[in-house]
Amino acid sequence: MAERRHFDGVIVVGAGLAGLSAALAAASKVLVLSGAPLAHGCSSAWAQGGMAAALSPQDHPSLHAQDTVLAGAGLVDPVMAALLATEGPEAVRRLADLGAPFDRTDEGDFAQSLEAAHSRPRVARVKGDQAGRGIMDAVVKAVLSAGHVEVRNGALLCGLLQEVSGAIAGVVVQMDGRLIEITGHAVILATGGIGGLYGVTTTPAELLGEGMALAALAGAQIGDPEFVQFHPTAIDIGRDPAPLATEALRGEGAKLINGAGEAFMAAYHPDAELAPRDVVARAIHAERAAGRGAFLDARTAVGDHFPEAFPAVFAACLSGGVDPRLEPIPVVPACHYHMGGIVTDAQGATTLPGLFAAGECASTGVHGANRLASNSLVEAAVFGARAGLAAGQRTAAPGKPLKRILLNPLPKAPLQDLRQAMSQDAGVLRDAEGLLRLLALINRLEAIHGVCGALVAARLVAACALARRESRGGHYRSDYPDQISPARTLITLKGGVMESLAA
Ligand code: SIN
Repeated sequence: MAERRHFDGVIVVGAGLAGLSAALAAASKVLVLSGAPLAHGCSSAWAQGGMAAALSPQDHPSLHAQDTVLAGAGLVDPVMAALLATEGPEAVRRLADLGAPFDRTDEGDFAQSLEAAHSRPRVARVKGDQAGRGIMDAVVKAVLSAGHVEVRNGALLCGLLQEVSGAIAGVVVQMDGRLIEITGHAVILATGGIGGLYGVTTTPAELLGEGMALAALAGAQIGDPEFVQFHPTAIDIGRDPAPLATEALRGEGAKLINGAGEAFMAAYHPDAELAPRDVVARAIHAERAAGRGAFLDARTAVGDHFPEAFPAVFAACLSGGVDPRLEPIPVVPACHYHMGGIVTDAQGATTLPGLFAAGECASTGVHGANRLASNSLVEAAVFGARAGLAAGQRTAAPGKPLKRILLNPLPKAPLQDLRQAMSQDAGVLRDAEGLLRLLALINRLEAIHGVCGALVAARLVAACALARRESRGGHYRSDYPDQISPARTLITLKGGVMESLAA
């Protein structure tokens, strides 16, 4: 029998930018549950790009919204994109007020960088590639000194508590070596993405999609799980997770070359190195598959400035024995961001009462089939705060009886098998044969290990990728290379079974 506790406020699971923004915004008591110490084990702290927001007089939120819609390849909800773009500048200012050290112009304004698919320079950065770290340090400090927020590290999410009505009333966590049920007024899942389901990822490997899996098992609607963004230039030095070589390097003029020293991007897209992220990822995948290899050559564009201009990338390269001032950086596409997730409205509310979601585990409709560069931190801050505000207004005491929806852990060896298979069959290129092979593996693993978060999440990606017989944004089917139907995937599990695939 698990111990039961009640928290008289909102429970936030996850301590990346979305979870902590929710905690700070809530006008109620908040309990933040995190598996790792704050600012560890979350993608936010690793972000190199920055926050996209229309902060300069030459820019306007409507232009940011327009670029977001265009990048999303027909599936972005324009109302949500407008909300993001309108509230983005205020979110950046709020973080700056907390102490996030954004780069400034000589006049003291926010410096704005240009990134691919943005029509204006609008990315607020921190010391080249330090945005995630700089922002999270400031937010963690604010959370630790906020009187209404209690933080519990070392709490691993294992389940949800559900009332007969379907409402979510609490969580089950593994803490201090035992299972503990915690009920509260509302639960906000801010559990991050699914990078750890892939053999090559730029995110913390412990991110296995458990939040999405639990929400799905509880009957919440899931949106677009097949849309996964692969970053073209993870550094290929055999590290897991693979360190990122930020897109800003290509913005600075770094070139992609193959092992013969040939710049290859112009052969794939007229925008060459600044082509959309999915196009660049497929080009690098093709060069590598053809045995030519792929490298990012920043010797001329960045050269001796590397240590100050891109300190995180520089340190990662050196750790793998590569000096990017003197030699090209070996690169590989890697799972970087999950556009799909738990469907929410503009307040972060899911389709289940009492359950909210924010950040990468949520599907707000902002990213569509392809997230615009540097839109993830700003989404986490804007929609995290919205979710915190809305959840903090709930005062419901949990009803009875409560059903436990629990996940088994997937042991290390089968998880490695799954990761390899996901990269091979649900990666940059997909086809029916590979996706069916992957689903057969998931079935076999589930028969042995039961209901595991990683398997439920992987099944959502694979089954919906199989069902989407077209190519769009981050989802490329080599057997269906054309864009056909601009319809979202909206799916609900019934009794844990994938019953409906409805557009
Ligand atoms: C990058 O710096 O290349 C990644 C930024 C992002 O994913 O938005």
